[in-house]
Amino acid sequence: MAQGILVTGGAGYIGSHVARQLGEAGERVVTLDNLCTGFREAVTHGELVIGDTGDQALVSRVLAEHDIDTIMHFAAHTVVPESVTDPLKYYRNNTCATRNLLQCAAEAGVKHIVFSSTAAVYGLPPGGVASEDTPTAPINAYGTSKLMSEWMLRDLAAAGGPSYVALRYFNVAGSDPEGRIGQSTPNATLLVKVACEVVVGKREALTIFGTDYDTPDGTGVRDYIHVEDLATAHLDALRWLRDGGEPKVLNCGYGHGYSVREVAQAFERVTGEPLPVREAERRAGDPPTLVANASRIRELFGWTPKHDDLDQIVASSLAWERAPRYSA
Ligand code: UD1
Repeated sequence: MAQGILVTGGAGYIGSHVARQLGEAGERVVTLDNLCTGFREAVTHGELVIGDTGDQALVSRVLAEHDIDTIMHFAAHTVVPESVTDPLKYYRNNTCATRNLLQCAAEAGVKHIVFSSTAAVYGLPPGGVASEDTPTAPINAYGTSKLMSEWMLRDLAAAGGPSYVALRYFNVAGSDPEGRIGQSTPNATLLVKVACEVVVGKREALTIFGTDYDTPDGTGVRDYIHVEDLATAHLDALRWLRDGGEPKVLNCGYGHGYSVREVAQAFERVTGEPLPVREAERRAGDPPTLVANASRIRELFGWTPKHDDLDQIVASSLAWERAPRYSA
């Protein structure tokens, strides 16, 4: 039997899309998730083990029993404002738990790790565009907690541990085209998710945080990437590592941005209805623009996005919001 892939956080939004694509590609996947924000129903392939990545006895047992040679690590807290008010929660669950996972991985002889990192490691990059060579300078504990995990991976690989690819995600949205899984995170703060909730009547209006930024229309600009393309990048990373590729840290975005108003307009095009918006002050900690220089992953992996279209991303997110298979 081929060796297996452990997907931590595989019952969550991004992890479940990756696990689904891995399963569809014929890989043997095992999900480890404590279901604190994940959903049992999001696990479409392979076994679900309920537990924490910080539980060394459990992780070691799972690695041995399922003959795991690759870990894809998504399990994490991801709410940026919460990481500012409760940083130790983020350092415990994102950084300390990753350390435990890596200890188990090294002891079990795991060969490859694909790590879910974030554009938040860049903080406020000059000009709003970040390449992998842009100095990291996170401005919140979420970004720092992920950056520390990248460093552990780097140092462990240099010491003979697993080889790895860390993917720095920009702004992820969209859902499974067949509607089986999607984003059901409660108390959403992310723009596309919040706008979806407005469309289905869960909120009265979309609040635009800041209209006086130095951007073409005064609102914040981000690089929105469809979760299906992001998931495919993980399968590309797996191929890279299996072929003996060096450890890599790579941006995952499309390399162009849209403003908050442009996202709101996309919702109006897709629904054919006006989207109620309210203008408000800037949100603390938001950079004006954050867009990927994303050429490296295309060159290295031959990564070829198929959903680089804002209206498609919006329509896909909305399809799930209107017909979720599970919700909190
Ligand atoms: C943040 C992180 C990112 C992380 C993501 C998910 C930073 C710089 N970025 O993305 O790394 O992966 O969270 O945890 O820390 N907006 C509104 N109204 C809303 C919501 C958002 O106007 O109701 C605006 C924001 O001001 C921003 C844009 O929409 O300009 C995107 O915001 P959001 O979707 O929250 O994601 P980021 O903060 O960019």
